[in-house]
Amino acid sequence: MSARYAVIGNPVAHSKSPWIHAQFARATGQDMVYEAIEAPLDGFARTVGEFRAAGGRGANVTLPFKEQAYIYCRATSERANAARAVNTLVLDRVETWGDNTDGVGLVRDLEANLGVALADKRVLVLGAGGAAQGVLQPLQAAGVGRLVVVNRTVGRARELAARFPGVEACSYPDIKARAFDLVLNATSAGLRGELPPLPAEAASTLFAPGALAYDMVYGRDTPFLAYARSAGARTSDGAGMLVEQAAESFLIWRGVRPNTRAVLAALRAH
Ligand code: ATR
Repeated sequence: MSARYAVIGNPVAHSKSPWIHAQFARATGQDMVYEAIEAPLDGFARTVGEFRAAGGRGANVTLPFKEQAYIYCRATSERANAARAVNTLVLDRVETWGDNTDGVGLVRDLEANLGVALADKRVLVLGAGGAAQGVLQPLQAAGVGRLVVVNRTVGRARELAARFPGVEACSYPDIKARAFDLVLNATSAGLRGELPPLPAEAASTLFAPGALAYDMVYGRDTPFLAYARSAGARTSDGAGMLVEQAAESFLIWRGVRPNTRAVLAALRAH
């Protein structure tokens, strides 16, 4: 019987993960199936238990369950601990093990796909929610020179920065005259067609020459990306991060690293 994997979320019907993992399985010759499972909002643990009992070997976890998955796991990786969230469950061990491949997926997309050498770069992260929390440690591990978190609710940025020595917190008005090599939108503003409140004066200074503006949202042109383009920056959505985090999960489960290039190109062409 094929090994069973799944993505668990709510809603989950829109998830591209089953398609991505089917491409990886075909390309690497792995005998596996990967389905999408919608867990009731109050039934994450039950859903995982049922999937495990039915022979599930591993699962990805998506919104809104990543924090619950972190609490659910008996053991977790260091990167999951830093993110306080789990997106990858390993179910075929005595104790459920949790990892988080989101941050490393972002770093791989930036470095391998987009050609950004992160060492010593000045990086600004917009937002202080779960998405931001998941990428700070991997960015630090990649050797960025300066890491600043800006958030609408500045207290949240301060709380987050306090957990990561060397990370700086600030408010939107504070970023007026500062320049960055990479500006990452980790807010949910784009999902509602909103632009984070970047000061108008910042447009001409925020993006250093050659800077990249990256929106972790995938598959849509957000107001942030339009703002960055009009300020002359290079832009990318989060499609590569999605494919790279999937590849890292696949590697954990199957011991094989799939090639991501063709899958990313096909996803973009969709
Ligand atoms: P996630 O886990 O996806 O990060 P979250 O924890 O709800 O979701 O956090 C959403 C983030 O987007 C927060 O940083 C939020 O800012 P606040 O903490 O001030 O609410 C940010 N956000 C959402 N809409 C925004 C907007 N229009 N402008 C700026 N920031 C926004």
